[in-house]
Amino acid sequence: METASTLIGKRKVNTSMSKLPPASLRAPAEQVYSEELARLSEKDSGPRPSGWHLSPRAVRSFILGDDRLSIKRKFYGDDALIDRCIVTLMSDRGLLLVGEPGTAKSMLSELLAAAISGKSVCTIQGTAGTTEDQIKYTWNYALLLAEGPSPRALVRGPLYESMQQACLCRFEEVTRVQPEIQDCLISVLSDKVLHIPELDGDEGIVFAKRGFNVLATANIRDRGVHEMSSALKRRFNFETVKPITDRKLEMQLVREQTEILLKSAQIEVELQHDIVDLLVTAFHDLRTGMTIEGIVVEKPISVMSSAEAVSVSYAACLDAHYFGDSTVSGEHIARQLIGTVLKDNPDDGKKLRHYFDVVVKQRAQRQGQWKRVLDARRELDR
Ligand SMILES: Nc1ncnc2c1ncn2[C@@H]1O[C@H](COP(=O)(O)OP(=O)(O)O)[C@@H](O)[C@H]1O
Ligand SMILES: [Mg+2]
Repeated sequence: METASTLIGKRKVNTSMSKLPPASLRAPAEQVYSEELARLSEKDSGPRPSGWHLSPRAVRSFILGDDRLSIKRKFYGDDALIDRCIVTLMSDRGLLLVGEPGTAKSMLSELLAAAISGKSVCTIQGTAGTTEDQIKYTWNYALLLAEGPSPRALVRGPLYESMQQACLCRFEEVTRVQPEIQDCLISVLSDKVLHIPELDGDEGIVFAKRGFNVLATANIRDRGVHEMSSALKRRFNFETVKPITDRKLEMQLVREQTEILLKSAQIEVELQHDIVDLLVTAFHDLRTGMTIEGIVVEKPISVMSSAEAVSVSYAACLDAHYFGDSTVSGEHIARQLIGTVLKDNPDDGKKLRHYFDVVVKQRAQRQGQWKRVLDARRELDR
């Protein structure tokens, strides 16, 4: 029988642990939802645009859920937005999802690409340092020096790949990229063609296959955002993704997303309804600047998005699991909430202290879990 630990030299090494290859931290949407996608494809009788893996109706069901086929809802909020996004992607214009950070733009873009093209990994992650090579193509320099420019020496970028493979090209955070680099998308979006001046004849022109389009996202609030040229703006349909305003919907979202994260981490934690309520209430108060009792509070500069709410909830569960008795309390939530709000703006600390002293103190007199939140107030004075 294999032993769990072995002596190597004088060191005891846990072989059972070192032998197990760790699972990937995150799989793309087409893998995570492969069963749902297969089920949708099998039952899909609607017309499919050329190059699409599913019909527009099935893409809609994949994102908004379909009880008959046991497809889970993945995006909460504006259902009509999804229809408009799907229609744009069928048209000859690109789709640009804009909005505050943490409103699920990236998630939506990944889900749309997974459903429409069967893959979401042809992606450019825009940064201030993104170059045209990283978007279009570059060269294997050893081959380039040995043979000169040839198709063999060419290394395709995500845009080239998607044009050839007839799939959606995702462009994350497009407005972080320098405007002159962003503009390399203009000819691709208008003529659906990519020129490679280094190659002669037909080899130097790549025509996009049906099924190709560009699906970009942009944040309107973060630092380091550039304006887009008006020529490029005209090639995109803009759709604004708004934060969730309905508290019940946000609670459902936080609960479901946290459960998915806990399942993939193989952790069992008790997250009670009143704790999710408390978390969503605190986020709602700080996001809107008005508590549910009608008290005006100052809004922190930090982003108080639903995505942040999910990550606070998940981190609180980890805290409760590894340092507590696996039952999440108001104190676990408060500790993570403080970490989320206190980033790089000292004024946010003052605003949060005020929230604790005025709002949390009052609620603590009425409800036990808010008393636990108040217990974490000391962390703000560190
Ligand atoms: N309307 C929403 N529907 C579903 N999930 C949402 C929604 N808003 C925020 N989220 C949460 O936000 C997370 C993803 O945020 P992300 O796509 O990175 O935001 P963005 O790209 O807008 O900054 C999701 O995993 C989900 O937990
Ligand atoms: Mg994003």
